[in-house]
Amino acid sequence: MPTFLSRIVGSAVLLWSLLLPFTQADQQVSITTNTYSDAWEGWGVSLAWWAKAFGDRDDLADIVFTLNSTKWEPGDQTLPGLGLNIVRYNAGACSWNTINGSVTMSASANIPSTKQIEGYWLDGLSSDPSSSSWNWTVDANQRDMMLKAQERGANIFELFSNSPMWWQLNNHNPSGADDGGSNLPSSQYRNHAIYLSTIAKYAKDNWGVTFDSIEPFNEPSSNWWKSSGTQEGCYIDADSQKAIIPILRDEMKAQGLDGTTIAASDENSYQLALNSWNTIGESIQKSDVGRMNTHGYSGSSGPRDDLQKLARGIGQKVWDSEYGDNDGTGHTMVKNIMLDLRILKPDAWVQWQVLDGSDWGLIEADISSSTLKGATEKYFNLAQFTRHIRPGMKILETSSSNIVPAIDEDSHTLVIVAANWDEQSTFNFDLSNFSKLPTDGSKIRSWMTNGNGEKLYASVDNIALDNQSISTSLGNGTVQTFEIDGVYL
Ligand SMILES: *[C@@H]1O[C@H](CO)[C@@H](O)[C@H](O)[C@H]1NC(C)=O
Ligand SMILES: *[C@@H]1O[C@H](CO)[C@@H](O)[C@H](O)[C@H]1NC(C)=O
Ligand SMILES: *[C@@H]1O[C@H](CO)[C@@H](O)[C@H](O)[C@H]1NC(C)=O
Ligand SMILES: *[C@@H]1O[C@H](CO)[C@@H](O)[C@H](O)[C@H]1NC(C)=O
Ligand SMILES: *[C@@H]1O[C@H](CO)[C@@H](O)[C@H](O)[C@H]1NC(C)=O
Ligand SMILES: *[C@@H]1O[C@H](CO)[C@@H](O)[C@H](O)[C@H]1NC(C)=O
Repeated sequence: MPTFLSRIVGSAVLLWSLLLPFTQADQQVSITTNTYSDAWEGWGVSLAWWAKAFGDRDDLADIVFTLNSTKWEPGDQTLPGLGLNIVRYNAGACSWNTINGSVTMSASANIPSTKQIEGYWLDGLSSDPSSSSWNWTVDANQRDMMLKAQERGANIFELFSNSPMWWQLNNHNPSGADDGGSNLPSSQYRNHAIYLSTIAKYAKDNWGVTFDSIEPFNEPSSNWWKSSGTQEGCYIDADSQKAIIPILRDEMKAQGLDGTTIAASDENSYQLALNSWNTIGESIQKSDVGRMNTHGYSGSSGPRDDLQKLARGIGQKVWDSEYGDNDGTGHTMVKNIMLDLRILKPDAWVQWQVLDGSDWGLIEADISSSTLKGATEKYFNLAQFTRHIRPGMKILETSSSNIVPAIDEDSHTLVIVAANWDEQSTFNFDLSNFSKLPTDGSKIRSWMTNGNGEKLYASVDNIALDNQSISTSLGNGTVQTFEIDGVYL
C-alpha cells in the first residue's frame, strides 16, 4: 500500500510522463519462431520435508497440483493453483530398528526429525519386498501427497535418493561421513541399486504410481554432507557414480523396469553437473542414463550452455531438477528461470519445496511446528509461468533475458512471460515473425505480479493486438504474462 506522499509523487511522475512520453525508454523485443524442444514436460516439486509434514492435506494438494483457486484457512488467502505436474518422491534413508541385535542408525545431533525421511528397507537381510526386512507402511504422508498429486493430474514421477539407507553406510549415519568424504562402501553399491529399483517396482504394483525415472544421487560431489549435518546426504564422487549407474540399470532390468529412465547426477551447480557428466563419460551416459539432471543453486552463474550442448549432443533430455533460493519476492527465481529457459533449455523445471521457512519455500511455513503462514510474492511469480506455459507446449528461443515465449501448437495459443528489472519502460513485443496472427484489436489475456505487492497475479484488462505487436509498460520488478489465441508458427 503506497503512502499518501508517494501517491502524490506518483501522480506527478505520471503527469510528467504523459507530457513527455518519449522520456520513457521504448524497448522493441523480437520474438522468433524457433522452438527449442519437442514439448515442455512441465513444472514440478520435490516432496520430502513439506510432504512429510503436510502430506495429508487436500487443500495444499489443490493449491500445488491443480489450476483451481483454493481458499485456505491459515493464510486466509485464495490462491490460484500452480498446476504442477511433476512430482519427485524422496526414498528415505532412516529407520529406527536394531539389526543383528546391536546395530542401529547413528543420527546427526543436528538433523530435525522433519528432515529424517523414513526408508522402506529396514536391514538388508533380505531383498524380498514381502519379507520382514521391508516395512511398506512407513512414510505415509509423503506417499499420500504423491497420490493426491496423481489424482489431480500430476503425470510425471521421479524417485530420488538423498542418501542410501543408513545401514549401507560406513558410519551408519545418513547425513554423511565425519569429514564429508565417501560414506558408501563399494560393497553396498548393489544394495543401493536394489533399494531404489525395488521401491519403483513396488510402487507400480501396489500404489499405482509408475516412476518415469530414478535418480540415485543428490548433490553427490558436494563436500558438505557430514555426520553432524542437518539433512540426509551422501558424498559419492563421480568415479563411484560411474560404477553405480550400470549396477542400478542391472537391478532395474531385474525388476522389469525397462521403461524407466535413470537421471543423473543432480549435482548442486551447473559446473559440478558438467564435471560429473564428463567423468561418467559418454558411453555410460548413452547406454544407461536417459536424462541429465542438474540443480540450479549456482543461480545466475555457471556453464548452462556447455551443459545443454553436452546433453543434447547425445540426444538426452535436461531438467533443472531442483531450484531454491531465499528471495521471497521471487525476483531471483524469475531471473534464473529465464536464464534456464533461454540457455540451459531444460525440458522441465522443479522447485525444491513449496512450503518452507525463511523464504525458501513459495508459501512461508514452519515445518517443525507444522505452522503455515502465507504465500510469498515468489508464489505468485511462479504462477505467472506454471499456469500458462503448460506441458506439451514448445518454448521458443529468445535472445532477450527478460522474456520467455511459448506456443501451444494445438490450440494456437502464444504465451509470453515478460519481466522488467530496470526503470519503468514500454515493451513492444513484435509478433510479425509468426505466419498467422489474429487481426489487430484482438483481445489478449494478461496477468501481472508487481514488485510492490499491489498486484499478485492480478488480471490485466484492455490489452489488444496492435500493429502485430503487444505493447505494455512494465515497472521495475514486474512480471507480466500474456496469452493470445490464433497464433501459428
Ligand atoms: C524474427 O526471427 C528472427 C530469428 O529467426 C530474429 O532474428 C528477428 O529479430 C525476428 N524479428 C522480429 C520482428 O521479431
Ligand atoms: C479442480 O481441479 C481438478 C483437477 O485439475 C478438476 O478435475 C476439478 O474439476 C477442479 N474443480 C473445480 C471446483 O474447479
Ligand atoms: C548383519 O549380519 C549379517 C550376517 O552376518 C551381515 O551380512 C550383515 O552385514 C549384518 N548387517 C549389519 C548392518 O551389520
Ligand atoms: C512399520 O511402520 C509403521 C509406521 O511407521 C509402524 O507403525 C510399524 O510398527 C512398523 N512395523 C514394523 C514391523 O516395524
Ligand atoms: C530496480 O529495482 C531494484 C531492486 O529493488 C533496484 O536495486 C534497482 O536499482 C532498480 N533499478 C532502477 C533503474 O530503478
Ligand atoms: C508497425 O510496425 C512496423 C514494424 O513491424 C513499423 O515499421 C511501423 O511503423 C508500425 N506502424 C505503426 C502505425 O506503428
